[in-house]
Amino acid sequence: MTKPKVFVTRRLLEPGLSLVQEFCDAEIWPDPLPPSREELLRRVPGLDGLLTLLTDRVDAALLEAAGPGLKVVSNCAVGVDNVDVAAATARGLPVGNTPGVLTEATADMAFALLMAAARRLPEGEREVRTGGWKTWSLDYLLGADFAGATLGIVGFGRIGRAVARRAMGFGLRILFTDPAPASPEPGVEATPVDFDTLLRQSDFVSLHCPLTETTRGLMNAAAFARMKTTAILVNTSRGPVVDQAALYEALKSHRIFAAALDVTVPEPLPTDSPLLTLENCLIVPHIASASRRTRSEMSRMAAENLIAGLKGEMLPNCVNPEVYKE
Ligand code: DGY
Repeated sequence: MTKPKVFVTRRLLEPGLSLVQEFCDAEIWPDPLPPSREELLRRVPGLDGLLTLLTDRVDAALLEAAGPGLKVVSNCAVGVDNVDVAAATARGLPVGNTPGVLTEATADMAFALLMAAARRLPEGEREVRTGGWKTWSLDYLLGADFAGATLGIVGFGRIGRAVARRAMGFGLRILFTDPAPASPEPGVEATPVDFDTLLRQSDFVSLHCPLTETTRGLMNAAAFARMKTTAILVNTSRGPVVDQAALYEALKSHRIFAAALDVTVPEPLPTDSPLLTLENCLIVPHIASASRRTRSEMSRMAAENLIAGLKGEMLPNCVNPEVYKE
């Protein structure tokens, strides 16, 4: 029996890799860097299935190039802002993603970034390495207190709520905004507020919203102007939710105290980015979900979505289930 033809834009982790190889005639992009746009366009014609990462742009032109045989796009990420979901839906094409499995790892990272920025860990580490640390003194590298501080969570979905759970253990008061808020989990006290109140009252603001046309540039100069001068911004959502030029100004002028970013525009951030000149800006390379179990689970889920789509079955995790309606 001929196996369905698929292109996988990067080597998956196990067990996803074996699942794909067993069920499909799979071409797997071998390089550590993503295939170029030209390469993608060259590879998609005649495919039955496409498995992508968040670094691959899947737009109407790519779907058109793939042709009518394409049965499924499986994105190995929870975010699907790299996929033109509307264009896929218009073609009746299901799009899969990997929700749930990265919730805890991402919430861990949001908290790690928050604590590192609040307690100035990167600055301290640089001081030790460069010999800047001369003596113990009372006012050296003072940071923010956690107990009794207010954490504002923008986007109270799975990850936002997992951050709230962690915040309870640190004695934080929790505020949140969400257009469709789910209730806090049992044992978590969190208050829904409007965005303005959240910005004005929070000592720490952590972003957990998807990138949409509404959230693009949400954290702009006007938003920074409403924050406390002692506030810290954490972004583990998507880079474009923050207006980076405005963030640079806010950090440089000490309009806010610090920022910690897992995501930027672009990714990777060029090493000459002005943000990298600032002591009060901590940036890591989009690794919030990068724990061994999480990435392996993401690979498995992406493989399962791909295979279900190839079999004509409903994807276990589908972002456009309307394609199944008659
Ligand atoms: C996702 O899955 O959308 C995350 O950004 C990966 O870390």
